[in-house]
Amino acid sequence: MGKIRYRRAFVKENIEVCRDLYHLYLEVDMKNVEPGHFIMVWIPELEEVPMAPSLYRDGVMRITYKVVGETTKYMSGLSIGDEIFVRGPLGKPFDLSMNGRYLLIGGGVGAAPLIYAAHRLAEKNYSFTYVEGVPNKGYKMFIQEAISMGGEAILYTEDGSEGFSGLPTDYLRDNINDYDMVLACGPEAFNKAVYELCRDSKVNCQISMERIVKCGVGVCGSCVIEETGLLVCLDGPVFSVSMLREKGYDC
Ligand SMILES: Cc1cc2nc3c(=O)[nH]c(=O)nc-3n(C[C@H](O)[C@H](O)[C@H](O)COP(=O)(O)OP(=O)(O)OC[C@H]3O[C@@H](n4cnc5c(N)ncnc54)[C@H](O)[C@@H]3O)c2cc1C
Ligand code: FES
Repeated sequence: MGKIRYRRAFVKENIEVCRDLYHLYLEVDMKNVEPGHFIMVWIPELEEVPMAPSLYRDGVMRITYKVVGETTKYMSGLSIGDEIFVRGPLGKPFDLSMNGRYLLIGGGVGAAPLIYAAHRLAEKNYSFTYVEGVPNKGYKMFIQEAISMGGEAILYTEDGSEGFSGLPTDYLRDNINDYDMVLACGPEAFNKAVYELCRDSKVNCQISMERIVKCGVGVCGSCVIEETGLLVCLDGPVFSVSMLREKGYDC
């Protein structure tokens, strides 16, 4: 039902974090949205776009988004009280049932669903390390938030302007065996690097994958992960490394 029902969502805040990166707070009734789920944001007369919430609490959803094209540009101009529409939750969320040491590793705006996962892990008193990789310190998103929940938080900047210089996958490469479960989300090249490291080390890993999502419900086929036949919108967006491997993502 949530897959096709549009809900009204009212803008509570739309905060610019830095150039082309925003936190949009929406008042919307969607209590069953879990970390890793995505929703479709619909602004009449524009395309619907998939977004994975970075938090949902007390009837308010936070979407952390990067301006890349027409719809996200329009979103950046939304003001308090504006009405838009959302449908969801869609797809499969992260499985956070294992009680163990979690490594949450996000590339760019891919950090969004991971910080939501961090909130859930903190509620369960599970230990986690949160690693965020961004181009420079201006794009830092959730480091303070992760620390405030009692987690360890590590920043990587590509230009070395703050934290460690390099990519969050450098951390994964050096520390992978300290963890029982890796959760990851980022651009394709990042996801591929995480996949290869976790596959080779045999550590449990779930990756939120990105493809072009249009219908969001398994009908149009635009979100297929070519080598595997898996649909991001229906079978994912969160996939275990073991499932990706089984379906031929390696090839
Ligand atoms: C499951 C899922 C969750 C996502 N969560 C977030 C999020 O939390 N925050 C965020 O900033 N972005 C997220 N994205 C990406 C976001 O949906 C796209 O950036 C957005 O659709 C671009 O729309 P646009 O009209 O502004 O740009 P367009 O003009 O449509 O496209 C601009 C560029 O973005 C790429 N793009 C367009 N549509 C998508 C798409 N559906 N998926 C990936 N890339 C696309 C295009 O290839 C193009 O290069 C998510 C994508 C998926 C699949
Ligand atoms: S977006 Fe249509 S099948 Fe996945």
